[in-house]
Amino acid sequence: MTSLSDLPLRPELRGRSPYGAPQVPARHRLNTNENPHPLPDELLADLGAALGEAALELNRYPDRDATALRGDLAAYLSRSGTAVGADQVWAANGSNEILQQLSQTFVGAGRTALGFTPSYSMHPLITAATGGTFVDGHRRADFTIDTAAAVDQVREVRPDLVFVTSPNNPTGTAVALETVTALHDAFDGVVVVDEAYAEFAREGTPSALTLLAGRPRLVVSRTMSKAFGMAGLRLGYLAADPAVVDALQLVRLPYHLSSLTQAAARAALAHTDALLATVDAVKHERDRVVDALPGLGLTSVPSDANFVLFGGFADAPAVWRALLDRGVLVRDVGLPGWLRVTAGTAEETDAFLTALGEVTADLRRAAGPGLGG
Ligand SMILES: Cc1ncc(COP(=O)(O)O)c(C=O)c1O
Repeated sequence: MTSLSDLPLRPELRGRSPYGAPQVPARHRLNTNENPHPLPDELLADLGAALGEAALELNRYPDRDATALRGDLAAYLSRSGTAVGADQVWAANGSNEILQQLSQTFVGAGRTALGFTPSYSMHPLITAATGGTFVDGHRRADFTIDTAAAVDQVREVRPDLVFVTSPNNPTGTAVALETVTALHDAFDGVVVVDEAYAEFAREGTPSALTLLAGRPRLVVSRTMSKAFGMAGLRLGYLAADPAVVDALQLVRLPYHLSSLTQAAARAALAHTDALLATVDAVKHERDRVVDALPGLGLTSVPSDANFVLFGGFADAPAVWRALLDRGVLVRDVGLPGWLRVTAGTAEETDAFLTALGEVTADLRRAAGPGLGG
């Protein structure tokens, strides 16, 4: 059988693994940070009508510039208090495609991106797949970014692009805006703040949208996959200076965003309030998980997202397996001692905490008297 090593693969792709959150069957799927709440009925009805209408024009290419959709996205972002114009917004098939277009535009062959790992695993993969080199930025042991050390590293490496994930995945914590501005001022490349989870941030956590004015090298990336509960739609977007949007036109494929996607996204945005009504419930379940962990002898990292990185395990992969055996699928993100769980419905939290209680009790029993806890 032919294997990858038999193919004339680009050298920078050799030995790499594809993005691979396991899609294994489980009663409770708490591994990919989706919003578990069903879409509101009134949106489902409107979606049917909007897609039906768009289908009448499927013999034609879509609006290449997604003008109406970008207007709706700009209006949504402007609700936060920072005015964002349609010419500052660009949309694509998931924020993964947004990140890929940014990497194609500002990194590419012979150039460098830096990101503070552990962070979103696609940042290094997208950098490599678009021909660039990815450099691991340092974090403290508690997973926060030491601003002074980060600035020093950026000055030394002089990357072409810096990724800042805020709130960070897989650790959950938002990054202070002072860190973003310090990094921005430390070099002359592009700073991409990946805010896929921004809507779940704790009270008083500002978005990097507030920093855009006067900073044409700053980009904020967002998605409808998380808080909007529309991961299946594949709609990501960015806000930046209009010049950044113009630059991306050099790499985007013509008609990259189908008319059906544009129509469905617009229908969803017309129901923004109903869709985001689930955010508080998800945050409540996240905080329930965080509060219950110490009682099980476990710790967590402060979370501004719809997931919790929890730990204290000698053998995290064994705990991942034991939870799956009890019908609960969480994510082993490859950090020794830690696992990540998505905050879902109240029933999912109950199932997760019950399973975790059983698994930790088994671990304490196996450790013997005096060693547990
Ligand atoms: C930090 C971060 N950015 C971007 C994405 C990509 O999301 P999507 O392509 O669904 O918009 C994810 C998905 O999990 C993520 O965690």
